[in-house]
Amino acid sequence: MLSQLSRRDCLKWGSTGIGLYLIGSNSPQWLAAQQVPPDHQLIVRTETPLNAEPSLDKLLEHWITPTAAFFIRNHGTAPKIDAKGYKLTIDGLVEKPLTLGLSELTEQFGLHSVTATLTCSGNRRTEFNRVKKVPGVQWDAGAIGNAEWRGSRLSDVLKKAGIKPGAKHVWFEGLDEITEKGETFPFGGSIPLEKALADTPAAPGCLLATMMNGKPLTTEHGYPLRTIVPGFIGARSVKWLSKITVSDQPSPNHYLAHAYKVITEDTPAAVDAAPPIYEYPLNSIICSPAPNAMVSGERLTVRGVALSSGRTGTRIKTVEVSADGGSTWQSTRITSPIRDFCWLHWSVEVPLTPQTQSLLVRAVTTDDESQPQETPWNMKGYQYNGWHKVDLKVS
Ligand code: MTE
Repeated sequence: MLSQLSRRDCLKWGSTGIGLYLIGSNSPQWLAAQQVPPDHQLIVRTETPLNAEPSLDKLLEHWITPTAAFFIRNHGTAPKIDAKGYKLTIDGLVEKPLTLGLSELTEQFGLHSVTATLTCSGNRRTEFNRVKKVPGVQWDAGAIGNAEWRGSRLSDVLKKAGIKPGAKHVWFEGLDEITEKGETFPFGGSIPLEKALADTPAAPGCLLATMMNGKPLTTEHGYPLRTIVPGFIGARSVKWLSKITVSDQPSPNHYLAHAYKVITEDTPAAVDAAPPIYEYPLNSIICSPAPNAMVSGERLTVRGVALSSGRTGTRIKTVEVSADGGSTWQSTRITSPIRDFCWLHWSVEVPLTPQTQSLLVRAVTTDDESQPQETPWNMKGYQYNGWHKVDLKVS
């Protein structure tokens, strides 16, 4: 039986050819809603599944990215879930498996706030194409955003379930269904148990988030529940979360066991040998001026964002810009809050000469890791973090 809301939505979406899905007992009724949110401020890269990113100047407007300007990365169709029947299960290597509705989760474990930047491992993928074309969503550098997430602490829920000896990984499974090479499976993945339990005032831990920027999650961003794993690539922050399994092994889900790995040849042996990507890399990009902008005058204001690597305890030490092809570098000024697992905004004025052809940016962390000039090419186009270059037209 469909709920009133679902029945109405079904008729609405049915007339536009969008399908209805019913799933098993723990699963609520849901509808596939594949549409760009009406108020979005995004460039759509693919419509089905929906993948969209803001233009880079949008990233500068707010340190906390408004939801309408926050990139969307979907591997399948976004399920529209009726929260009333929704249940989260926690099983595997636990003393006491749990099944929790949304209100039980909040009542028992409270709501905690974590501000964290989410970025896709494929962000800046198009820059690999300079070497050799990489398949996949052709992201510019906008698959990144910083939001205030609210929800229950994953560590509290796991402790309540009681972690059994031998547990090493925490698996997540979503309610979306993805069909690849004739097989249909949910999006999922896992994180090491150590990361799942790492919760300190200095390094805020993982959330089972119900809210983004003070409002319930939108369908596109995982309503009614998603994980947020600060410091890890976006793929580990599983949307439409339905199941958590504690295990002695990493998740066998495709998006942990096969995809999201840095490989240079696509053979089963190469995929098996490569470790899953967890942390995102140190990065910085120029958001203004835009590529090929016409600029004039003696000085130019350059602005952008930088994100330290997702390693716990690492922060940005400097962000430097060069207006002469990398011969000299100028330190930038930080213009936003500086927080663990969050991007920062920077700004600098550089001299402009008729010889200025481009701008470059690079960042260095507090443990002296520098962005590489180029990122070595890989087959799936992940983790690009070479110096970001913006060409200019000087008049
Ligand atoms: N969770 C589910 N269930 N399905 C997905 O396709 N995409 C992942 C992650 N969680 C995905 C998912 C990827 S690759 C990224 S980068 C982030 O969600 C993007 O989150 P956003 O769409 O809220 O920006």
